[in-house]
Amino acid sequence: MYKELKIAIDGPAAAGKSTIAKMTAEKLGYTYIDTGAMYRALTHKALVQNIDTNDGDKLTALLRDTAIVLLPSAKGQKVIVDDVDVSEEIRSQQVTAHVSAVAVHSGVRALMVEKQQQLAEGTGVVMDGRDIGTAVLPNAELKIFMTASVEERAMRRYLENEKRGMATPLEQLAAEISERDRADSERVVSPLKQAEDAIVIDTTSMTIEEVAREISKLAEERAHI
Ligand code: DC
Repeated sequence: MYKELKIAIDGPAAAGKSTIAKMTAEKLGYTYIDTGAMYRALTHKALVQNIDTNDGDKLTALLRDTAIVLLPSAKGQKVIVDDVDVSEEIRSQQVTAHVSAVAVHSGVRALMVEKQQQLAEGTGVVMDGRDIGTAVLPNAELKIFMTASVEERAMRRYLENEKRGMATPLEQLAAEISERDRADSERVVSPLKQAEDAIVIDTTSMTIEEVAREISKLAEERAHI
């Protein structure tokens, strides 16, 4: 007998979480939820509406008034905000530069966590983010904390951007990743932190397939009842 699991994948920016989470979800037939995309979606909407990213109350009100839908697609997850596909826009440099500031606010986080918990109800899920094992799905049967060196993560982002036709210097990406690590780890509400019961996987010298295989193996062990 197998049961459907909740799988939490946390870790710093560009550690390969979304690629791995998506692959694992496909393999297991589970729903994949990219929570970073939800914070990016709100950030994009705030920037379009010229809302100050330091204003937590305004951002929380904006989120309350925003419909974020995540749809599976061949090219990764589609992100629909108020019926508009913003999948490309939320990956822009501008959104990337402001998203940590938006994610800092307790009102925003509380509402996001609520939305994410609703999305995970009654189904097998693989969810990736920063606080999934600690705040969103504290009872997840499998918690992974995925890391990789800053240099390796910058290189992966570089190659990813290149595929999208964006040429950002490697040094700039490394600096941005370090800054996001710092901001995400030092914030007061739900900082990026390894859950006590998480399994740490350092992916610096692993291939995507190796990481996916390891997580699937762990999932199969835990799904067996
Ligand atoms: O995974 P990502 O780079 O797309 O995430 C974008 C930002 O959103 C990241 O800098 C921190 C924030 N985030 C968060 O605070 N909590 C999550 N569960 C997911 C993302």
